[in-house]
Amino acid sequence: MSKKPVRVAVTGAAGQIGYALLFRIASGEMLGKDQPVILQLLEIPDEKAQNALKGVIMELEDCAFPLLAGIEAHSDPMSAFKDTDYALLVGSRPRGPGMERSELLSINGAIFTAQGKALNAVASRNVKVLVVGNPANTNAYIAMKSAPDLPAKNFTAMLRLDHNRAASQIAAKTGKPVAGIEKLAVWGNHSPTMYADYRFATIDGQSVKALINDEEWNRTTFLPTVGKRGAAIIAARGLSSAASAANAAIDHMRDWALGTNGKWVTMGIPSGGEYGIPKDVMFGFPVTVENGEYKIVEGLEIDEFSQACIKKTLDELLEEQNGVKHLL
Ligand code: NAD
Ligand code: LMR
Repeated sequence: MSKKPVRVAVTGAAGQIGYALLFRIASGEMLGKDQPVILQLLEIPDEKAQNALKGVIMELEDCAFPLLAGIEAHSDPMSAFKDTDYALLVGSRPRGPGMERSELLSINGAIFTAQGKALNAVASRNVKVLVVGNPANTNAYIAMKSAPDLPAKNFTAMLRLDHNRAASQIAAKTGKPVAGIEKLAVWGNHSPTMYADYRFATIDGQSVKALINDEEWNRTTFLPTVGKRGAAIIAARGLSSAASAANAAIDHMRDWALGTNGKWVTMGIPSGGEYGIPKDVMFGFPVTVENGEYKIVEGLEIDEFSQACIKKTLDELLEEQNGVKHLL
């Protein structure tokens, strides 16, 4: 094992997503089978949470993962984020049945001010941050704005679950393998206003739009199914998605760290003004990644329907942003 270990901080490490995530990071699924990792795990100081974290750590030890070069338990972000190269900000309250994700802003928003400040103070200057905790885009915006000494581009929000959900629905509709799908995009907020867009997508080189050839299905089945999938899972399980969320977090970080080989993926990233999205809005865009740097796929034609969908999700994000001014 010749590579130097990298530091991976995970918050909410004793929660449901944490439990589905940590073992996969430690086994090398996120950063590669040749990359040792040191896990820096953060939970709230509460005795029950810290005890649960101890149990998770015992299980991680019992896996004897060859790539796991160290495990730390923390209750303070200032120590948990020390020198961290990757930070997965999961810890926060999930919604229950009947709630919208934006309703979590008043409960969860403040967590991301404190954690953004701690990252600003002690993390690696190249830290790659993924916010999973909901409402993910606006929490990522809060963390980014609370960390003025770190590059804004280091902060991202998770739209990958929506991207994967969209791919899976398309595969089911067309009867083609999900692995063949390319050039899919999900624009905007991780909320029911998101715009999953398969106009440019292909499966094994064939146009998805032409294969489906059913605009009614797009508008009345596909978009609502993808947009409301989180709520459907809460209604069915009584708990919010966890394994699929952890899987999406792994996909997001792996692709950001190791590259996409020209393939489009969706990441929530601070806008640089592309497609008329105001600067710094944390927006889902189609990107490609090379050498650890993501790049927005530019020059896509935005038709009238798409423009209206993008405006709707942007307006919601601007409203959320406006609602957290007091935290910044
Ligand atoms: P959970 O309640 O099972 O676990 C959350 C954990 O976070 C708990 O152990 C809690 O003690 C801890 N925590 C709370 N505040 C913390 C803080 N300030 N610092 C460190 N840890 C803290 O919840 P979960 O199911 O794991 O979901 C976590 C979050 O992820 C929720 O906000 C949920 O809505 C969100 N989520 C997002 C997506 C997405 O696609 N972006 C998908 C699924 C879930
Ligand atoms: C999801 O999309 O499954 C998560 O964001 C959880 C939720 O509240 O929907």
